[in-house]
Amino acid sequence: MASCCRYSVLTFTLLCLCVFAILTVFFDYDHFNSFISFSSPTLESLGPKFELQRVIVSTSDQIRAVGLSGSIDDHQHLNRSTTIMRETKKRSREQALEQGLARARASIRSAAIVRIVSTASFKNDNDVPVGDVYRNPSAFYQSYMEMERRFKVYVYTEGELPIVHDGPCKDIYTIEGRFIHEMEHGAKRFRTNDPQRAHVYFMPFSVTWMVKYIYTPLSFDVSPLKQFVSDYVKVISTKYPFWNRTHGADHFMLACHDWGPHASKGNSLLYNNSIRVLCNANTSEGFNPRKDVSLPEISLKYGEPSPQLIHPPPRNDSRPHLSFFAGELHGPIRPHLLQHWKGRDDDMQVYEYLPKNKDYYSYMTQSKFCLCPSGYEVASPRIVEAIYSECVPVILSDNYVLPFSDVLRWEAFSVQVETREIPRLKEILMAIPEEKYRQLQEGVRVVRKHFMLNQPSKRFDMFHMILHSIWLRRINARPE
Ligand SMILES: *[C@@H]1O[C@H](CO)[C@@H](O)[C@H](O)[C@H]1NC(C)=O
Ligand SMILES: *[C@@H]1O[C@H](CO)[C@@H](O)[C@H](O)[C@H]1NC(C)=O
Ligand SMILES: *[C@@H]1O[C@H](CO)[C@@H](O)[C@H](O)[C@H]1NC(C)=O
Ligand SMILES: *[C@@H]1O[C@H](CO)[C@@H](O)[C@H](O)[C@H]1NC(C)=O
Ligand SMILES: *[C@@H]1O[C@H](CO)[C@@H](O)[C@H](O)[C@H]1NC(C)=O
Repeated sequence: MASCCRYSVLTFTLLCLCVFAILTVFFDYDHFNSFISFSSPTLESLGPKFELQRVIVSTSDQIRAVGLSGSIDDHQHLNRSTTIMRETKKRSREQALEQGLARARASIRSAAIVRIVSTASFKNDNDVPVGDVYRNPSAFYQSYMEMERRFKVYVYTEGELPIVHDGPCKDIYTIEGRFIHEMEHGAKRFRTNDPQRAHVYFMPFSVTWMVKYIYTPLSFDVSPLKQFVSDYVKVISTKYPFWNRTHGADHFMLACHDWGPHASKGNSLLYNNSIRVLCNANTSEGFNPRKDVSLPEISLKYGEPSPQLIHPPPRNDSRPHLSFFAGELHGPIRPHLLQHWKGRDDDMQVYEYLPKNKDYYSYMTQSKFCLCPSGYEVASPRIVEAIYSECVPVILSDNYVLPFSDVLRWEAFSVQVETREIPRLKEILMAIPEEKYRQLQEGVRVVRKHFMLNQPSKRFDMFHMILHSIWLRRINARPE
């Protein structure tokens, strides 16, 4: 196993050298000079809402200096001024990038005050967010539009199959593969091949594939995963200036596997500074909602959701069951749930193993509430499945940062019950008035599109919502 790891590191180092050589010829040499003008945004320097994440060094004095010396007919001066001009060009490019973000931030801030998107002014846009499922529809809309207008992601080309540039596509961790593929082959609008023009840098490795290819089964030894991540950061931070420029703060990784957070410990700057997009968004395990992104877990065993979930029953069909859960005794919360409710009450359809003659998704589409307790990790694919089946999710987890909660008000389309209230679960659900239930279910219908994966991806779908969460971290804004 270890040799497999070394092999891939060696070969991707060679690949890097190759790419570097080509890039050096291809680009202006100055792309690879050091970036002295940036001060680094460590976590401490992440300011209040809407603050610039980086300090921009003014270059206007240098521009004036170039103008003056350019008029002097002296070779040495010309030579020097060429260098300064090159430096200035590079810096003003960085400055323009940051100024663009500052403008985006300002426009989001103004939109935030309005709170409601006037649909009249966006007649041609069917995607305008409306309703109380959004924290602030107009700020979200503005932020999304700014993202579409400006946001550029550079995807590192380093690394090779199977662990980099690919991920599972038919699995409980499917979002890893789907995101990587969409980013590398689909989202042309957001991808740039010029790292100078990027706002964020993506390291497209898959932790699920690391577990498959370089982890020794049953060893519970995650060090090969950490080593891989450490090597990867070493390669990109040596070959390119971008990592060192911000100590990784404008870089991101994405992992749905339970061990994503462990793998990210392979580099402490990655762990502390970078945007970690994780399903395992457990604040007790170092997930930091100010810089990290909570990733929805979605199980697509056959590459697509079950047709039953895609076409839930009409909204006024009655749902005979009050609530439903079926699942194994993983993690700390489910034992409580099963102990209190398994086989106890017809209103509470709670199973460890569903009887052979019963269908899981039929239960979801015929229940009013779908119970979503954490398993071994905080996230559960049940949340997305519940949303697909228009069953109101009941979140039973501790320390879980819910996906897209920067923009979505989960309380408008789900019920969150503290795990110590599990014995009172039926009472709590029965106490929700019919009118309130209808509002929650309507909320589920509104947010549904944000949890759909499409091929090709569509505006405001899951891929774009993930990207938007990253965009918010990069501009350091919360559209509330
Ligand atoms: C720059 O200076 C070098 C020597 O220092 C000289 O060979 C070269 O011709 C100069 N280039 C220009 C454009 O003046
Ligand atoms: C970035 O910093 C590391 C460690 O300080 C150093 O080894 C590496 O050469 C630097 N990268 C670049 C491109 O200068
Ligand atoms: C990362 O954070 C931990 C805990 O806050 C700290 O001990 C460690 O020194 C940090 N590492 C770096 C490289 O900043
Ligand atoms: C269900 O809703 C549809 C229209 O939305 C309506 O035509 C139908 O009568 C309703 N059925 C019941 C049983 O309320
Ligand atoms: C979240 O992290 C804490 C601390 O490690 C752990 O005790 C808890 O079990 C985790 N939650 C889940 C659902 O895994």
